[in-house]
Amino acid sequence: MRLVASVLMALSSLAALPAEAQADGAPLVSPVLTTADAHDPWTFAQPEVARVTHVALDLTLDFAAKTVGGTAALDIAAAPGADRVVLDSQGLTVSKVTDALGNPLSFTVGAAVEGKGAPLTVAFGPSTGSGLHKIVVHYTAANAAALQWLAPEQTAGGKQPYLLSQGQPTLNRTWIPTQDSPGIRQTWEARIVAPKPLTVVMSGLKQGEPEDLGDRRAFRFAMDKPVAPYLIAVAAGDLAFRELGPRTGVWTEPAMLDAAAAELVDTEKMVAAAEALYGPYRWGRYDMIVLPPSFPYGGMENPTMTFLTPTFIAGDRSLVGLVAHELAHSWSGNLVTNANWADSWLNEGVTSYFENRIIEALYGSHRASQEAALSFAEMEGVLAEKGLDAPITALHLQPAEAVPDGGESGIVYDKGATFMRTVETTVGRAKFDAWLRQWFDSHAFQPATSALLLADMRQNLVRGDAALEAKLLLDDWVYKPGLPANVARPVPAAFADVDAAAAAYAQSHAFDPEPWAGWTTAERLRFLSKLPKTLTPEELGHLDMHLGLSQSGNAEILFAWLELALANRYDPAVPAAEKFLATVGRRKFVLPLYETLMEQGAWGEPIARRIYAQTRAGYHAVTQGSVDKVVSAGG
Ligand code: BES
Ligand code: ZN
Repeated sequence: MRLVASVLMALSSLAALPAEAQADGAPLVSPVLTTADAHDPWTFAQPEVARVTHVALDLTLDFAAKTVGGTAALDIAAAPGADRVVLDSQGLTVSKVTDALGNPLSFTVGAAVEGKGAPLTVAFGPSTGSGLHKIVVHYTAANAAALQWLAPEQTAGGKQPYLLSQGQPTLNRTWIPTQDSPGIRQTWEARIVAPKPLTVVMSGLKQGEPEDLGDRRAFRFAMDKPVAPYLIAVAAGDLAFRELGPRTGVWTEPAMLDAAAAELVDTEKMVAAAEALYGPYRWGRYDMIVLPPSFPYGGMENPTMTFLTPTFIAGDRSLVGLVAHELAHSWSGNLVTNANWADSWLNEGVTSYFENRIIEALYGSHRASQEAALSFAEMEGVLAEKGLDAPITALHLQPAEAVPDGGESGIVYDKGATFMRTVETTVGRAKFDAWLRQWFDSHAFQPATSALLLADMRQNLVRGDAALEAKLLLDDWVYKPGLPANVARPVPAAFADVDAAAAAYAQSHAFDPEPWAGWTTAERLRFLSKLPKTLTPEELGHLDMHLGLSQSGNAEILFAWLELALANRYDPAVPAAEKFLATVGRRKFVLPLYETLMEQGAWGEPIARRIYAQTRAGYHAVTQGSVDKVVSAGG
């Protein structure tokens, strides 16, 4: 009983910690939610007993050994009587752990669990008084799944190596020993040593100029707002910077700088548009890094430093929805964060809606409604494929479905956005926008759950209006699979011309290439998605010849074409597919192409295996892990 009582006290005292606040309202210590729905099964941490509040990294990048090593000094807030802290770790070699004075502390690494790593438990002696402790973990990370070490040949410049990290969802424990759970927010700082002439960037503000260490340099960064630890990110390479606006800029390799800056020219306006919608941008700068094409995602919303694939560069800014998306995460995701991965729709769905609102503000409602219609069609496709009663199609995922990477299906993005759009349409835009802004403000720098969002909506938007409550079907949207009856559908006219052209083609299989030249990227993608699934080699050859599909400099269009062509076992598309798969590592493109090949039996399987044998080593662990499951290694 005594133990239970002290844990309960710990719960309340730790939950109540955010007493001090910074000037901009960011708490120094952010509360941890202790309700059952906020529990994160993917961490070993017991934050109600002892939790990390600050991480200070001092690490050296070793490009020859492909390791990072050094120290992580952690500030811990412990409940009265707690004598140890449990951290997450995966594949780390810990040589020692000390207290702030350098006295050794005892530690154990427990049994590893698939997909979760192993608990690193550090004993610091009984907590008395403040319950605040500092521990220093001395360690090396080799083969860290978060980190991709690129050979010079994998970069645009071809001369220098490159390092990039991807923390979400649970990968940062492979290079940082901390409590790696989205509900346990931490401030952090870092000193990173890299060989000359490489430049290091991180997802926090740069602190001064690099320190010269002879053949190496030390770069310093700090994030003074508590963030979910998956948002700590690093990249190092031959990097140059170009300012885009007073608060915005882009880092990339020198050879990429002009193209990147041209594509990102609207970024400062996007930040202003986002602020006008949902409140102040609270992170200081909004910089981006355009990475080499092996980056496994389109983008990653690392605070103050969005990470971007170069495949969004189409030359005409037609794919900058990606930038709007990562920027929107500065509110939905980074400011208000899913407490665990079962509620990743709170990050991705709200962000996809917000993304579309930014696109509308910058480029008008026509483009926005087309992009929304593409996303809606994508969702309908997944719903049809998985089935309207498949648990994976709910927004809030049940434990069986809630693998950290469950967002792969796209449902949390597109159905989440559709839910927000439905509420907007039902209550009216002005009311909805006021509510969403209020949601971000009142939950700033805190974790959130589906239940919290629904309670907030009921309190601040529905306000006891029984007719409105009945209209909204809130619980169906969040907890049930499929699509509630009140769904707001996209404007049918969005693609009227294109759909007519695709229907005509399906009828006659004769194609007038004329209008294509005047179509937007969204229209071209729509057309490709509406073509008959089965086409003859002659038809495919004709389409490719007239539309220049395998030559396309737009990665989305090239990908859509390759999928269609490979699904039809079209031999002439294989070289283009091989070239694409040899340079691009973005999982959203790579995985479906291998899947499509593997579905083609005796035709496609050997092609997939041959290409993957050549390309696998160039992919990030995220992409390797997914493709490994599809292209069996042995066969
Ligand atoms: N946060 C995600 C990337 C992510 C999701 C990483 C889940 C790990 C687990 C990022 O914001 C994202 O959604 N990227 C998309 C962008 C697209 C929807 C515009 C991508 O990479 O394609
Ligand atoms: Zn996202």
